[in-house]
Amino acid sequence: MAILVTGGAGFIGSHTCLELLSGGYDIIVVDNFSNSNPESLKRVTEITGKLIKIYPMDLLDLNSLETVFLDNHIEAVIHFAGLKAVGESVHDSLKYYKNNITATLLICELMQKYKVKKMVFSSSATVYGLPDSVPISEGFPLKALNPYGRTKLMIEEILQDLYVSDNEWSITILRYFNPIGAHESGWIGEDPSGTPNNLMPYITRVAVGQLKELQIFGKDYATVDGTGVRDYIHVVDLAKGHLLALDKTLTSSGVHTYNLGTGRGYSVLEVVEAFELATGVHIPYKMVQPRSGDAAICYADPTKAEKELNWKAAKGIIEMCQDAWRWQSNNPHGYVKKEESVNPRLVQSEDFLLPNN
Ligand code: WQD
Repeated sequence: MAILVTGGAGFIGSHTCLELLSGGYDIIVVDNFSNSNPESLKRVTEITGKLIKIYPMDLLDLNSLETVFLDNHIEAVIHFAGLKAVGESVHDSLKYYKNNITATLLICELMQKYKVKKMVFSSSATVYGLPDSVPISEGFPLKALNPYGRTKLMIEEILQDLYVSDNEWSITILRYFNPIGAHESGWIGEDPSGTPNNLMPYITRVAVGQLKELQIFGKDYATVDGTGVRDYIHVVDLAKGHLLALDKTLTSSGVHTYNLGTGRGYSVLEVVEAFELATGVHIPYKMVQPRSGDAAICYADPTKAEKELNWKAAKGIIEMCQDAWRWQSNNPHGYVKKEESVNPRLVQSEDFLLPNN
């Protein structure tokens, strides 16, 4: 039996694949590499010495996707695949609804057909919108503020309805706060295409000399120093949370939702200070206008996951910065450039186990 990981080549997906392999699971990855690089999975196999069965395909291609269920005995699905740029989702909302919602409907349709009714779903703290207070617990009002966040919220509601219509389903919804950092090897990490939207990859690109200075969005928020506060969580802690969520999903039924955060907020300036302390690298910055749609403060109450999943984030902000820097300094240009990377269908190395198709 194997675990199907959609979007497994992405930042959180690749780190979760690594933990799954280390935890003894067989995994199958479906990824269209539109926002990721197959190199990440090649490196996961190098780090773990284990094979990954890869299907380079789009979840919207139902016929191809069905071959994955025909070819394999799938025990559960961890569903990462989806577009996740907030700004882009505002300008191209249809692309987000089609990619995120339709793809999820198709994967659920096949799961139902092949009686694979166990899913861990990658959601986001963005479903809370601008929280009225902190820390945020799972029962807080849900009010997504952009098409990206609305796709996550709609999918959560679709999954709730799926369980109501068929109580055999077991679904665990994970709401991520701000994942940063990288595997301690420095061999896999966050590799956004183009100029990063998120804070940590922007900082590491400044540190490695690719970007001139950090622009800090807003200095007059009602926070410790006026800059935005977020709950940064090490991506490996997040990945380990997926394995505990998978355990629960495999052994129960119903829909369970958990915040995956540390419960500790850091301001932008505190992150910059921690990065400089952790790495010895100076990060020049300038204060600019606030980014529209940004919350002042957002951090989790992670006690439900602690109690019910026996999960607690273990890594602190200094380790997050050290690991993020090790990845970026070892890989100044991230994974090999897409145009240089080989077509995974042609890759016959021992690192990949490709289906005979
Ligand atoms: C963090 C803080 C910014 C960049 C986003 C998505 C969310 C989730 C995580 C997918 C904020 C400040 C940032 C920069 C800055 N993604 N900042 N200069 O906005 O909390 O969440 O990523 O699920 O859906 O919305 O993360 O890293 O963009 O910002 O000052 O160049 O850093 O204002 O206070 P965010 P972020």
